[in-house]
Amino acid sequence: MTIEKVMNAHIGRYASKRFDWHAFPSNDGYKDLSRAQARYIGAGGSPKTGDTTTMEPDHFTLSIMYKEPGKYAACHSHEIEEAFFVISGVLTVAWEQDGEVVEIDVTDKDLILNPPWVPHGFRTPGVEPVFMSVMVATGSAMLPRYKYHPKDNPELAPSFGATPEETYPFDPNSSHPLQQLMAKHAVRFRDQKTEWLPAGFGRKIYVGKGAIQPKTFRNEMFLVPRGISVKPYKRDSEEAYLVIEGYITVGWIEGDKVVEQHLGPKDVIKNPAGQLHYFRNEEMNNVTMMVVIGTAKPDDFEFEAA
Ligand SMILES: [Fe+2]
Repeated sequence: MTIEKVMNAHIGRYASKRFDWHAFPSNDGYKDLSRAQARYIGAGGSPKTGDTTTMEPDHFTLSIMYKEPGKYAACHSHEIEEAFFVISGVLTVAWEQDGEVVEIDVTDKDLILNPPWVPHGFRTPGVEPVFMSVMVATGSAMLPRYKYHPKDNPELAPSFGATPEETYPFDPNSSHPLQQLMAKHAVRFRDQKTEWLPAGFGRKIYVGKGAIQPKTFRNEMFLVPRGISVKPYKRDSEEAYLVIEGYITVGWIEGDKVVEQHLGPKDVIKNPAGQLHYFRNEEMNNVTMMVVIGTAKPDDFEFEAA
């Protein structure tokens, strides 16, 4: 296969994605739970693993979820870690422990990582729908264990298992163990410091050094100003770019061949382990892109300006 074809097979275009309203069989028949999923890398927690329009995962899967206002997801837990990254809209994420619930409100470019076996649910309290990216560690099957599903628990399911008296807004200064745990697993774009690299772009670390402790994958936001271009680099593990704002040019190098593609909002490219590649912003606006790296290990290289 030519490098052009291989590269194209590693790109998921938002315009070509078809959202699946039946990705999660446990939600079928419950209109308050309805959501649509577009699979980019792997099945993203859906049992629909036979989808040929999604890329093969290595260490993580990546999907985009769409949820209309006033819906929720029932409280459940699973063995593997799962990150929610809000692309747009307002999302309330709830964690439950012994009948008590802590709720955090997050919005555009905020991330929360659900650790293994922490029961979690969410709702869409705003007036606009939510687009969120869900990243799930691979390794074992998702197999959600529902704790408060409307089929068994219609009263408590919408509030994730707690009464109003047992529901607490997120407070990072609280000594409650669930609050403390959540404080270690939520990153808001507005609060996370941008580190400006000598290569000319900014980086906010979400999952990695000085942020949420990584287990299987890392998350970093790259802020690439107009006119910035980096030299080719490669990693030992796979890396995905999910473009949030602006348009980025991505190049792959194979011997003396160079192939470039342009990516826009909600497009994804998966750069395989060992693939020499680079990015450049040659458009009018600045770029923000979520970068997912398939290892917990920190970078062993420095980005250089091209
Ligand atoms: Fe989950």
